[in-house]
Amino acid sequence: MHKDVPDVIVGARKHAPLLVALGDEENFIASDTPAIIEYTKKTIYLEDNEIAVVTKDKLKITDIDGKEIIKKVEILPWEPAALSKQGFKHFMLKEIHEQPDVIRNVLNGKIYDIDAPVRLDEVKIDKEILKKLNKIQIIACGTSLHAALAGKYLIENFAGISVEVEASSEYIYRKTTTDSSTLVIGVSQSGETADTITAIKQAKEKKSHVLIITNRPDSNMARLADSLIPVNAGIEVSVAATKSYSAQLISFYLLSIYLAEIKGSLDKDYLKNIKHELIKIPSKIEEILSDIEPIKACAKSFSSYKNFIYISRGINLSTAYEGALKLKEISYINATGYAAGELKHGPIAMLDETMPVLAILIPGGVTYEKILSNCEEAKARNAKLIALTSSSDSNLESIFNVVIRIPSVSEILSPAITCVPLQLLAYYIAEFLGKDVDQPRNLAKSVTVE
Ligand code: G6P
Repeated sequence: MHKDVPDVIVGARKHAPLLVALGDEENFIASDTPAIIEYTKKTIYLEDNEIAVVTKDKLKITDIDGKEIIKKVEILPWEPAALSKQGFKHFMLKEIHEQPDVIRNVLNGKIYDIDAPVRLDEVKIDKEILKKLNKIQIIACGTSLHAALAGKYLIENFAGISVEVEASSEYIYRKTTTDSSTLVIGVSQSGETADTITAIKQAKEKKSHVLIITNRPDSNMARLADSLIPVNAGIEVSVAATKSYSAQLISFYLLSIYLAEIKGSLDKDYLKNIKHELIKIPSKIEEILSDIEPIKACAKSFSSYKNFIYISRGINLSTAYEGALKLKEISYINATGYAAGELKHGPIAMLDETMPVLAILIPGGVTYEKILSNCEEAKARNAKLIALTSSSDSNLESIFNVVIRIPSVSEILSPAITCVPLQLLAYYIAEFLGKDVDQPRNLAKSVTVE
């Protein structure tokens, strides 16, 4: 803006998102849609090196040489109501409660009959190529990286394809083995994370097929995709991701089942059971959300601790990482996720009565007994223990200070449920401490710098 030219705003885009929105006798420039959805749904996304000159009733977009460009006006799919807290104290709490419907939405049209194969028309790779696929790399940051870790576990377990997971910020500064036969999956709720965009561009240069899992089909990353799985979680306002994480997780369940069905790598009855259970996940989360008092009470009694350790094994290791990250992000308490078996190789030295250990342990699989014995090791060092479990074993109360129970679920599907109490625990601890839950200090919803 310039004082000699009032009522004119000039915006130029370079390596960070910028949009122009067209209202009724008012136009806007913003970096993201939540800023304008209250006023208009008509938006124009600028590309790098494009310049917009905007007044209240005129708009001119040019390239860097001043040549006018006519751009398509897109209509946003969201209602302004998405930006209301709808009676919840914070957006984060509202978004946690939206998860059952978000998951139903992700599953909708993908599993329409448990006897029929999963439909994932979004994957634009020939099935014959997928049958022979033997390397996948998943790149992401933060919470999306944790969804990616669960994704690795699922794809390797269901489809037997080797998967590497890496933080985008690491991937982009080393020599990778990515090539034209690698499927590269980028995961991002915002679709604008600079590190992941750079990683995707590098993978595209190596001629890999790039599949993007994002909550923002209107994002830069989505536009770079060869295949796009939009997770349709609806607009997420809280900086700490919750419903977009659940939606990413469910997308990985669908993708891994899809790959397993193409490769014929799983028994038909097992697949049927998995699909059957997947459909029931939303109602199990509803069960948790209908009685959050035990989680609130746990949050209250543990809110004064300065450090936490979250442990698990197997597929819930990613949940331990994510639960610890949620706590760090919104309460500023130091929390670290560890593979339970790794406790004895270092972290155990830190354990005493000031360091609570939260363990995620789901019976029926291979990890339960092992995690339990890791918890006993922690108890012997006077650590306070919290269990997050679907076990009904009443002996757990004699080992753990608090037992948070969730509905019965198979270990392989449990991350879709175990994440919810951990989101709530982080939320209520931050709430008790009076933190700015929706906008934690030093964090942003879209991180557009490397
Ligand atoms: C930021 C946010 C994190 C988020 C990460 C990745 O750091 O604060 O909560 O997980 O970005 O974002 P993305 O949009 O790529 O999933």
